[in-house]
This record gives sequence, C-alpha cells and structure tokens, in this order.
Amino acid sequence: PYDHEVRELLDRMTVEEKLGQLQQLAWSWDTGPGGGETKDVEEAARAGRLGSVLSIFGARSSNALQRIAVEESRLGIPLLFGLDVIHGFWTTFPIPLAQAASFDPDVSRRDAEVSAKEARSNGVHWAFSPMMDVTHEPRWGRIAEGSGEDPYLTAEFAAAKVEGYQGRGRHGYGAKDRVAACAKHFVAYGGAEGGRDYNTVDVSESRLRNLYLPPFKAALDAGAATVMASFNTVGGVPAHGNSHTLTGILKEEWGFDGVVVSDWTGVQELVAHGFAEDGAAAARLSLNAGVDMEMVSTTLREHGRELVREGRISEHRLDDAVARVLRLKFALGLFENPYVDEDSAIDGPTAATRRAARETAARSMVLLKNEGGTLPLKASVRSIAVVGPFGDSDDLLGTWVVPAAAKKYPSVKVLDAVRRAAPDAKVTYARGVTPEGTSTAGIPAAVAAAEAADVTVVVVGEPPALSGEAAARSDIGLPGAQERLVRAVAATGKPFAVVLVNGRPLTTGGWLADAPAVLEAWHPGVEAGNAVTDVLFGKVNPGGKLPVSFPRTVGQIPVHYNHESTGRPYDADNKYSSKYLDLPPDPQFPFGHGLSYTTFEIGAPKLSRTSVPAGALHAGDTLEVSVTVSNTGDRAGDEVVQLYVHDLAASITQPVRKLRGFRRVTLGAGRSTVVRFRIGAKDLGFWTNDPHGEFLVEEGRFDLYVGNSSTAKAKRTLTVT
Ligand code: IFM
Repeated sequence: PYDHEVRELLDRMTVEEKLGQLQQLAWSWDTGPGGGETKDVEEAARAGRLGSVLSIFGARSSNALQRIAVEESRLGIPLLFGLDVIHGFWTTFPIPLAQAASFDPDVSRRDAEVSAKEARSNGVHWAFSPMMDVTHEPRWGRIAEGSGEDPYLTAEFAAAKVEGYQGRGRHGYGAKDRVAACAKHFVAYGGAEGGRDYNTVDVSESRLRNLYLPPFKAALDAGAATVMASFNTVGGVPAHGNSHTLTGILKEEWGFDGVVVSDWTGVQELVAHGFAEDGAAAARLSLNAGVDMEMVSTTLREHGRELVREGRISEHRLDDAVARVLRLKFALGLFENPYVDEDSAIDGPTAATRRAARETAARSMVLLKNEGGTLPLKASVRSIAVVGPFGDSDDLLGTWVVPAAAKKYPSVKVLDAVRRAAPDAKVTYARGVTPEGTSTAGIPAAVAAAEAADVTVVVVGEPPALSGEAAARSDIGLPGAQERLVRAVAATGKPFAVVLVNGRPLTTGGWLADAPAVLEAWHPGVEAGNAVTDVLFGKVNPGGKLPVSFPRTVGQIPVHYNHESTGRPYDADNKYSSKYLDLPPDPQFPFGHGLSYTTFEIGAPKLSRTSVPAGALHAGDTLEVSVTVSNTGDRAGDEVVQLYVHDLAASITQPVRKLRGFRRVTLGAGRSTVVRFRIGAKDLGFWTNDPHGEFLVEEGRFDLYVGNSSTAKAKRTLTVT
C-alpha cells in the first residue's frame, strides 16, 4: 500500500529532502545526553530537512510545529511525532515489569489502548513502546520496562501491547485513537554485561534466536510498525551498525517493511564504540546496516549528501529508508489529516481510566510471603500504623512517566488510601527513614507507632529514580537504612506486613525471615495507594506471579529459572557440582512464584498423546496438555497455571525448563476447572547456531511440567519420534 503515493513523492524530492525525512530531533524532554534545540527543530521543519520530532506533545504545540512543516516547507510533508509512552500518557499504569507479573497480557493491551487514545489526541503518533528486552540481570535498571526473564512471557505481553496501541489489522494505527508502536530495543540489550546500562553483549546465534528475538518476532507478527535499535554491541558489532540483525534477520528473513529508528544518538555513538572512525562513517555504517531514521544525532544530515555522491550510500538504500518513513506517515493518515483537534484533546485521566490503572496495579501485585494469615488485614482492626519512606509518598509512578503527568497526576498515597479503607480505625504514620538516607534517627518514632497499633504496614523499596534507564545498581537490597527500619518494627513482636515498591527484584535476605508477610507491589502507578489497600484488605485477592527470579544475594546473579543444563548440575551430595558454597542453589523467590489468600491444588497433567512424530509436528500437528485446578480454600481467588517444557537431550544444550503456556483463572471457593494448553513444534523445537536461521524439533523425550511456579513438580513425558 501507498507505493504509488510514495514513488510520486520520492521523484520530487532532493537528496537533502530525502535525508531530512530520516532525521528525528528532540523537542522538550531530554531522555539522553544533550537535548533538543527548539529553534533548530523549527528551522529544519521549514527547510524540509526534518522527518520526525520526539517528545513534543500537547495538541496546540504539536499542531503549531506541524503547521510549519505542512504549510511552510517546499513539499509540505507532515512530521511524525514520537514519544516515550511506556506505561501511560496521562493515566500512569504500573510499570511494565509489574504488568508482566499479572500473567494476563490483557492488562497491557488495556494500558496501551488507554495510552494510545490519550496520546493521539495530544498530537502523538508514535509510542516508543513496547520494550521487550529479556534480561537475567536485576542490577539493570531497565528491567522495570520489560517483562522480565522469560522470552515466552515477554512475547505474549509484547504482542498484546502492540495490538493495544495500534488496534488490530495492518494499519489500525491510522485511527484517531491509536498510535504506531515501536518494538525495542533491537536486540539483546538486556544482556548487558554486569547489568551496567549500555554495556557489551556477546551472544551465540542460538541464544540470540531462542532468548532475545522471539518477543520481537511476536511483536512484528502482531503488526508493530517500527523497531528501535539498541545501544549495545552484539558479538562485537554495535546494534546500530549490525547488518546481520537489522537487515539479515529483521528485514530479509522476517520481511519487516517498517521503520527502524536509532536510539538517542545511537548512530553517532558508533564512533565511541570504536566501530566508526567519524560521523561520516557512522552515518554510512548505520544506514547501510539497516537504520532508517536517526534520533537526535545528525550524522546523516551532515554527511549524507557527500556519501551518496561518492557512492558510499546507494540511492536505492536511501530511497528505501525514505519510503519506509513516508509509508508510515501515509498509514497514520498524516497526509490527509496532519493536525489534531485542539478542542478534543484529552487533558487528564478519567474515572474509567483510573479504575483500569487501579485494577491493573492490584492484578500485578505478588504476595511473596504470608505467615499465619497476617494478610488480609481484618476489617475489625482498630489501629493501624503506616511506616516507612513510601507510606506517604506520591512518587510511586515508576520510571518513564510523561513529565506533565508526573506533575499533575502523582500517585495516590498508601497512607491516604489506608485511611479511606479503614475509616473507623486509628491510622498513624511514621516515616522512620528516608528512601536513601543512612540516618536512623526516625526509627524510634516508627517503633513507637508500631507498638501502639494492632498492625503495622511497612512501605519500603526503591524510589523510581533508582530504576529505569542509566539506573543500574550494584547492590539491589533496600537502599539506605530501610532494612534497619524493617528489623526494628519486627523486634516489637507485633504483627506487620511489608509492602515493597520497586522497579526490579530486590535482595531481601537480611530482613525477610523477620517479616511475616511481604506484598510485592512494584511501582504501581497513579492509583498506587488504592491498589495496595485493595490487596491489603482483601478486596482483591492477590494472584500475580513473579516474571523474574529474586536472587538471594547479588553474587548469585544470574539466577534465572531457564538456565541451560550443565554437565555437573547441583547435587547436595556431590562436591563437584555447580553451586556456590555459601548459598542454596535456588533463588530467594523463583520465577512464577506468588501466593494467594486462598489455596489451590493443581492435579496431575494429562497428555492427549504421549508420542508424536517430529514430521507431524513440523506439519502443524499439536497435542493437548490438560490439568484440573481447584480452589481448595474458603474464598474466591486467582491461580496462574503454568506449563514448562524440558527437552532432555538435544544437539544444542537446552534450558532446564522453558515456559510454554500460562493461564490465569479465577475460581470461587471450592470450585475447579480444567485448563488446556496446545503445544506444537514451536514449543518443542529450538533455533540452532545457523546464522541463516534453522529451527529444529529433534526426536527424543520431553518432560512437560505443570504447576503454579517454575518449580512445579508434576510432569508427564512426551516422546517425539
Ligand atoms: O525511547 C527511548 C529509548 O528507550 C532510550 N533512549 C531514549 C529513547 C527516546 O527517548
């Protein structure tokens, strides 16, 4: 589609105008080094030397800039406006990692639908989301933006979010309430060594294809219009100059015909990587590798003409990149309707969108521990102490929040929500410590509050500023003196529950044993306090599960559930087995773990067949795994039934388990249901190290585990013949 229109335009464009379409400049929100020069943006738009602007929003300001491009430039090509809409525009939903903990991709679909509508009405055409970087590194701040450590779970959430932003169908994002999505960051960004942002990644082809690429494939199959390159190297070649990943896999093998945008100054950074000698080389290497649009740095704009003249960039490749950008603009409907209606711009969350954010946040919470029925809090409780630096904080939105939303619509505080939820109880508050400070001077007052109350809610964790981009931490415990606070409250001997607010797995080793109940609330978004109290008081029965393992100590990282088999797997009776001498082999909390206020029983899995020919699987045959799940407790609740596969012997060593199905079910007390999964070649096979892409389903035995976490014991064995 739009080939004819695009061809006509290309025929009329000068080389400078073509290069202009490939330039994106920043407006008002600096999300990288340096920043936007508003004056340059307007001049470039007027001169027809600008294709896109990031971080401009608001109907009036975006229309004003658009008017310059449409009415004052020679060809009147509209600008494309992109923005980091990561978990909300006005209505801030919980962070993506939290959403993944819901094990319900529909929550992300809904976040994306709400965000798209709010953003598009404010002039935004393009969300730089979803982020789908699988990672085994909790030290990495950007773990907050993705769906954790598993490619299957991440792929499901990525696809749902793309559909939510774009609508269904090839060009659904032409609608007035949709935006184009951006699958990022391509690729393997989550593999940053040591979890230090922007760091080196060296992966085998099979790991690239089995671990990092599947979410991207799922996002593109769902129709993602654009892809963003990543800051890391992949096997020594920076992703922005990597023709194997950008052109070989993405554009040729997968046939992606959309736009590849660089990350912020990612093209210029090829020089710092030591991959390009200067800006001209960076422009040449990145365009030739497959980057179509340059964000913020201006190497193509500066050197492109010369490079084309010298034949170092072919006109064919230049036209291809420009055609991709123009096609996106046509598909978004910008040529017909470049402006937004200033009178119908959405100017804040509504009751309905707040409700959606609240439900999502509650659905995302994970009950990590609950001894002696500490939670839910009894309605009859007469006095409650709220303690901790985040108890009266309105800064629980998480990383990547649209600045105007953070200012106008901060989080509902836990303290305020507890007061509303327990109007007859005496509610007191003592901060105890600050989020990062080392002073313990406030702890005695917190202890006094806990001693005087029937029950205490201790709200501790990480401030959002310690999570997200460029926010790697070498110690992922509670910052500052917060652990001292938890221990001091525990020493009172009175009942209490810890609520964690954080953007990554935390190490809890120091204080966990002292805490009877721990609720993982993540950074819950605008409705934070309300959602936390919904769960604390049992209005919502928690059903979230961990999308990432929680290590016991930093030294245990990586401790993901889906690690590959070794020749000497852990064996308590064998000194010469893979382990740390000073730690148990398992994480503090495994992937998939999460408790409920009720209890569930998951029966033995059944297979529709116990043997299947590999050829039949390749031809599309599938089999059914079914299991009965029962609520054996006395209240309604949610359980997430999870299916894991282990290929016992393969020509490439396989993960000890891979998630291959999950279903979140709601069951009344005493109720049961049967959950059915269909599995086929894509669930049993794997990608080899062939750089051209070879997917194999090999003969042999496969253990299929079904249960409520990655440590599920019940299994059946399938033989592929
Ligand atoms: O979209 C982001 C990206 O994820 C990280 N660098 C900046 C971009 C634009 O803000």
